[in-house]
Amino acid sequence: MGLEYRLAPSILAADFAKLADELARLKNAKADYVHIDVMDGMFVPNISVGIPVVRSIRQYSDMFFDVHLMIEEPIRYIERFAKAGADGITVHAEACRDMGKTIDEIEKNGAKPAVCISPDTPYEAVIPYLDRVYMVLVMSVYPGYGGQELIESTLVKAGKLREYIKAHGLNVDIEMDGGIKLSNLTHVLDSGVNVIVAGTGVFAGDLYENVKNFKDAFDAYKKRM
Ligand code: DX5
Ligand code: ZN
Repeated sequence: MGLEYRLAPSILAADFAKLADELARLKNAKADYVHIDVMDGMFVPNISVGIPVVRSIRQYSDMFFDVHLMIEEPIRYIERFAKAGADGITVHAEACRDMGKTIDEIEKNGAKPAVCISPDTPYEAVIPYLDRVYMVLVMSVYPGYGGQELIESTLVKAGKLREYIKAHGLNVDIEMDGGIKLSNLTHVLDSGVNVIVAGTGVFAGDLYENVKNFKDAFDAYKKRM
């Protein structure tokens, strides 16, 4: 498949009292993206971080900020997240009244657009946007919390999406998010996913060892392809 594999640790599982240090550790450990989970307590039953936090940590990290907006009608906040330093902005198909206009807004503000689908949303929902996004995030848990179990059926969905992307000669990354550990990583990669979000799988225990294990597993998987 010739896919590039990337690790996007979710800082939802980090120590928020030491975010700058946590970002430095991710950089030193050679993680690829910083996955920033933004939750509004409306689209998901949880509240996490927002624009001021993205703006603050932007000064301490040159890593790619993969900002996952779990918020109602995100078009209202795209400009502010982009100005705060978001590099990639991922919006939920279920939360946008007009996905095309939301993608326009992300592009207009100089960020890279991505769309996300929750477990109950079919992959067909993102087909109209595949030529406009750099990535599709297929949630492997119901959004809102870290530390959940991966939902198997989402792997089948990711596989169908990867088939569609290949069949149409498109170049789109598929990111998966939620419940991914070293123990189920090969299973996830087999479905055609190439960007891995891991929160507890990276921050619980030894971060450096966890990141190294994920990256070594990517290398081993690539060799087998
Ligand atoms: C859940 C978030 C995920 C979560 C992943 O709504 O989008 O990024 O933080 O956490 P783990 O890897 O612990 O399941
Ligand atoms: Zn996320």
